[in-house]
Amino acid sequence: MGKHQIAILPGDGIGPEIMDATLAILDQIGFEADYFPLEAGLSAVDKGLAPMPDSTVERIREIGIALKSPTTTPSGGGHTSANVTLRKKLDLFANVRPAKTLPGVKGPFADKNLDIIIVRENTEDLYAGIEYMAHPDVAQSIKVITRQGSARLFEYTFKMAIAQQRKKVTVVHKANIMKLSDGLFLEEFYKAAKNYPDIESNDIIVDNCCMQLVTKPQQFDVLVTENLYGDIISDLCAGLVGGLGLAPGANIGTNCAVFEAVHGSAPDIAGKGVANPTALLMSAVMMLRHLGEHEKADKIQNAVMRVCQDGKCLTIDLGGQASTSDYAKELVHVAVG
Ligand SMILES: NC(=O)c1ccc[n+]([C@@H]2O[C@H](COP(=O)([O-])OP(=O)(O)OC[C@H]3O[C@@H](n4cnc5c(N)ncnc54)[C@H](O)[C@@H]3O)[C@@H](O)[C@H]2O)c1
Repeated sequence: MGKHQIAILPGDGIGPEIMDATLAILDQIGFEADYFPLEAGLSAVDKGLAPMPDSTVERIREIGIALKSPTTTPSGGGHTSANVTLRKKLDLFANVRPAKTLPGVKGPFADKNLDIIIVRENTEDLYAGIEYMAHPDVAQSIKVITRQGSARLFEYTFKMAIAQQRKKVTVVHKANIMKLSDGLFLEEFYKAAKNYPDIESNDIIVDNCCMQLVTKPQQFDVLVTENLYGDIISDLCAGLVGGLGLAPGANIGTNCAVFEAVHGSAPDIAGKGVANPTALLMSAVMMLRHLGEHEKADKIQNAVMRVCQDGKCLTIDLGGQASTSDYAKELVHVAVG
């Protein structure tokens, strides 16, 4: 396979540290690519640019593939999220977040072999950005769910479920209360499900889903849901399998895909060289599979599993003492000898 072209967004906080570790591992296992570093996040703002500059968005659109580290979004006032801007402008409508137990990693369900994929709608819902002060004392946010946005999400989800030999897709909603918005979402789900009779389909209300996830998560296979529920549920699932340091993600659009960890920029540990790069690395594994580089993806995935199982070289979040670079070196050692 020829050389790939990949846009790189090093991001904020621990972003540059985990990006360096990830690119070093990709390089050492023989993945050949031209990387194009682009500005985004607080580091862009410090240079007088927007948190997600138009030039960055356009370059990703041209290249088609990006690997992105987390960017910092201040709560309350300040600039809008670089991520939300990117997902909307590139119409990255499906956010795919696998949560899988790794051997040797402690967690409440470490012995249960969890393997759940969460597909989160990525451009609508309360993240549509329609928020205003209706009155000095009343703030309003509008939840937007469209038929077209829901239909393409479910189409993608069922196709992905088939490609990954999954058995069941569960839609998560609150249609008992939000009868129109979540009702439409649910209606579109069952319309799409009719076209995929080999996949079992069912639905669950979001609050019950959270309770079931923390008591009997092994019942779930693929979960598909709206933007806000998906944001929360995917972090919950990351917690079930060992924490945010392990949870990868992919933002999929029609012509572009951006691969990034679920976690944020972790300002509390930034600059200390202790961040766990696994989530970004496993996002890069998803990127390799997207590019058809399955052999290299397997090599990294197997090395992550062996290093975790061995337990001798783990980062602090997993109860070990290894630095980011020690862990990366150990992975390469296991992957290529
Ligand atoms: N995709 C993104 O760019 C993205 C996603 C979520 C949050 N954020 C932003 O990140 C900033 C910080 O958010 P937060 O503190 O709520 O969440 P966070 O995910 O950055 O951190 C939560 C906790 O998990 C730990 N953690 C996260 N990633 C880790 C890793 N790789 N290795 C070891 N420990 C790790 C942190 O140290 C912290 O204790 C905010 O500005 C937020 O908006 C960005």
